[in-house]
Amino acid sequence: MKNIIGIMAVLAVVFLGSGWVAAQGERGNAKNGQAVYEQHCLRCHGLTLEGNGPDGRFLVVPPANLQSRRSRAKTDWELLVAVTHGVIFSPMHGWRDRLTDEQILDVLSYIRTMAPFDAVS
Ligand code: HEC
Repeated sequence: MKNIIGIMAVLAVVFLGSGWVAAQGERGNAKNGQAVYEQHCLRCHGLTLEGNGPDGRFLVVPPANLQSRRSRAKTDWELLVAVTHGVIFSPMHGWRDRLTDEQILDVLSYIRTMAPFDAVS
């Protein structure tokens, strides 16, 4: 009985731990994320992630420059929320209905590869 509780505690830690790491974007596959980015995000956020994609100039609210200090100072969690739920009053809609959780983590990982987190802002 004692063993079972011990095993369950370990499993809980592994399970919660992996969720946390995934939320940090470290579990995403940046290479797969690049493909997702090129297909869905590039037209607004641009090849270099600076918000200069071909469709961006037609928008009233310009796409975020993901290379900016402001965006780089955001945590993975904040970016994840923006991608999943969208940004209110902007053409950035939520992607949770169009991409799988895995694709969202992958694309986040790609963004962080190109524009690493930088707390100094
Ligand atoms: C129709 C154009 C468009 C597309 C397509 C688009 N975005 Fe955006 N994105 C925006 C706009 C506009 C904003 C909000 C800018 C603002 O609030 O100043 C934004 C904001 C964001 C932010 C928040 C940045 C921050 O600093 O808060 C992230 C992250 C992001 N987009 C990622 C993505 C990803 C990943 C995709 C593809 C799955 C994507 N976007 C597709 C237009 C777009």
